[in-house]
Amino acid sequence: MSNPHPAYWGVVPAAGVGKRMGADLPKQYLQIIGKPVLQHTLERLLSVTELSAVVVALGREDGYWPDLPFGEHPRILTAEGGKERADSVLSALDRLHGLAAADDWVLVHDAARLCITRADVRKLIETLRHDPVGGILALPSSDTLKGVENGLIVDTVDRNHVWRALTPQMFRYQALRSALREAAELGLTVTDEASALELKGETPRIVEGRPDNIKITRPEDLPLAAFYLEQQCYE
Ligand code: C5P
Repeated sequence: MSNPHPAYWGVVPAAGVGKRMGADLPKQYLQIIGKPVLQHTLERLLSVTELSAVVVALGREDGYWPDLPFGEHPRILTAEGGKERADSVLSALDRLHGLAAADDWVLVHDAARLCITRADVRKLIETLRHDPVGGILALPSSDTLKGVENGLIVDTVDRNHVWRALTPQMFRYQALRSALREAAELGLTVTDEASALELKGETPRIVEGRPDNIKITRPEDLPLAAFYLEQQCYE
């Protein structure tokens, strides 16, 4: 890569409605130990001093963001989110146009993963900083996995070859932006950044993350996230 000192940028898609949560406000604004989910997530990312700034993609109708204490924050930028997660990420990357260099790194992190630790973000950065492509935090599967059709098991997947994709996912700015754009132009749904790079024939690297980096998805995840937040030693 031409630039020996690329910058690091955060991108947080936070424009989802969180249907599976069944709450009357988007899951990123539910309160956990006294703060909205998104505030926990952003405070943790901002504590990673390597990140020059974090772009948050917000829903067009989002009326909750102004209540969070980031309005004037020098390292927070906002962008308008899109229909799918990938559209929100692409919009955040467009916001970085003119700020990020082609081979700068972008770390995309789900708003709903509020238990992310600084140690895991740094592990990802340290492992991948000289990598040409990038990669993701992931977890090996401890359960046996089944392929299922119409409620019947049709296949048992070799769990030694299956990992669960977490975030952050870390890729070069230009490569990620063009991979997401191409996937959108082809009408392909990508649920994470790695898939977009995989469609381009790349083989992103796996970095083992911590199991407490859970994504708030269902109501029962809320007490679990509160437990993890309280257990993690965080100054
Ligand atoms: O729904 P799911 O948990 O997979 O969403 C992952 C992340 O993507 C969440 O942080 C959500 O707010 C975000 N998202 C988004 N724009 C969408 C859909 C989801 O920013 N259109």
